[in-house]
Amino acid sequence: MALALYRKYRPKKLDDILGQDTNVALLKSAARQGKIGHAYLFYGPRGTGKTSTARLIAKLLNCEKRKLDLKFGETGEPCNTCLACISVDTQNSFDVIEIDAASNRGIDEIRNLKESIITAPARGSHKIYIIDEAHMLTSAAWNALLKTLEEPPRHAVIILATTEYEKLPPTIISRTQRFLFKRLTKEQLVKKLAHIAKIEHIKIDDDALELIAATSEGSARDAESLLDQAAGWNSHIDAKVIEELTGRVGFRKVHTLASHILKNELAESLAFLRTLSDEGHNMTDFTKDLIHYLRRALTLALNPALEKAYHADFTQEELTSLKSLTPLAERESTASLLRALIRGYSEMRYSPFATIPLEIALVEQLGSKN
Ligand SMILES: Nc1ncnc2c1ncn2[C@@H]1O[C@H](COP(=O)(O)OP(=O)(O)OP(=O)(O)O)[C@@H](O)[C@H]1O
Ligand SMILES: [Mg+2]
Ligand SMILES: [Zn+2]
Repeated sequence: MALALYRKYRPKKLDDILGQDTNVALLKSAARQGKIGHAYLFYGPRGTGKTSTARLIAKLLNCEKRKLDLKFGETGEPCNTCLACISVDTQNSFDVIEIDAASNRGIDEIRNLKESIITAPARGSHKIYIIDEAHMLTSAAWNALLKTLEEPPRHAVIILATTEYEKLPPTIISRTQRFLFKRLTKEQLVKKLAHIAKIEHIKIDDDALELIAATSEGSARDAESLLDQAAGWNSHIDAKVIEELTGRVGFRKVHTLASHILKNELAESLAFLRTLSDEGHNMTDFTKDLIHYLRRALTLALNPALEKAYHADFTQEELTSLKSLTPLAERESTASLLRALIRGYSEMRYSPFATIPLEIALVEQLGSKN
C-alpha cells in the first residue's frame, strides 16, 4: 500500500511546521546555539505537529551534517540527508525511542526507560525519548519518571506529548519546557492540502478543499487523511464527495438555514432540516456548525472589526455571506436562540431522537419571536 499522505508529508524541517511560529522560533534558536533542552512537554489538539516536532528535535540533535558543517548548523534545521536524519524519518533510529503511554499505561515502559537511558547512544550523540499520549501514564509511572525527568543524563532528552494537558501532574509539568501547539487555521490547512493535491495530481475543487479544512477542526492529520480517502474514492473530488464521506454539510447549507432562522421563517427552516436529514447528513455535527455560524454572525454584528480575525477561518465568499446576515442578528433574540441551540445540541448527542431537539429549539425560538 502507498504511504499514507499524512506520513509522506510529515514536516521535514522546522520551517514546514505550520501555525506554531513561536515554538518554531524558540526551537530554531535553541538549535543554533546548541541549547536544546532536556525535558519538553508538547501539548495541544491532535494532528497539530507534536510528534513531528519531537522527531525534528531528534534530528537536530543527531544530524551529522550539523556537527561537521558549523555554517550549516547555523540554519537551525536538520539536513535530512545524513544517516541519522534518514533513520528518524524511517523510524529506524536506535537513538530515538518512542513510547506509547496509552498501550499499557506505561509502567514497564518507564522502567525500561530508566534502565536504558543511562547507557550511551548507539550511533549519534543523543538519545531521544518521545512519550506519546503522556496523560495516560499511571501515577506509579509518573513517580518512576520524576527523578529521571529532573536530571536526565547529559546525552538524553525526554519529550512528553499529550492532547490532555490538564491530566498531567503539576510536579511533572514544572520540570519541563512547555510548548503549546495550536489548531491550524482553515487557511493554513487549505494551503497545505492544495500543495499536496498538486504534487499528487489529485483533482479537487476549491470548495471541497475548504470543506475538508473546515471538517478537520484544525488537525492537519485529519485533513490529510480525508484528502487521502477522498482521492481513493473518486478521481475528481468535489464538495459532494466530501459531504458524503464525512456526513458533514458544506457551508452554503449552513448559511441557508442560518438565513431562514434569522428571518424568522419557521416553515422554511423545518422543511430545510427535513431535506438535510433525508440526505443522510450528520445532524449533530450540522448543529454544531450552525451554532458557530450564528455566533459569528452575532459577534460580527456587535463588532465589525472582528472580520479581520475571521479571515483565517473563512474564505472571502463565506465572509460576504456571513456579513449579509449581520443586520438580522438582533442581539437579544440571537443570544437566546444560541442558548437554545446549544441546549439542543447537547441533547442530540445523547438522545435517540436525532433531529428533534434541534427542531424543538427552532419551534420555540422562532415561534416566540413575533
Ligand atoms: N503544524 C503542522 N504543520 C504541517 N503539517 C502538520 C502539522 N501538524 C501536523 N501535520 C501533519 O499531520 C501529521 C500528523 O502530525 P503529528 O503526528 O505531528 O501530530 P500530533 O500533534 O503528534 O498529533 P496527535 O496528538 O494525534 O499525536 C503530520 O505527518 C503532518 O502531515
Ligand atoms: Mg503525536
Ligand atoms: Zn542530517
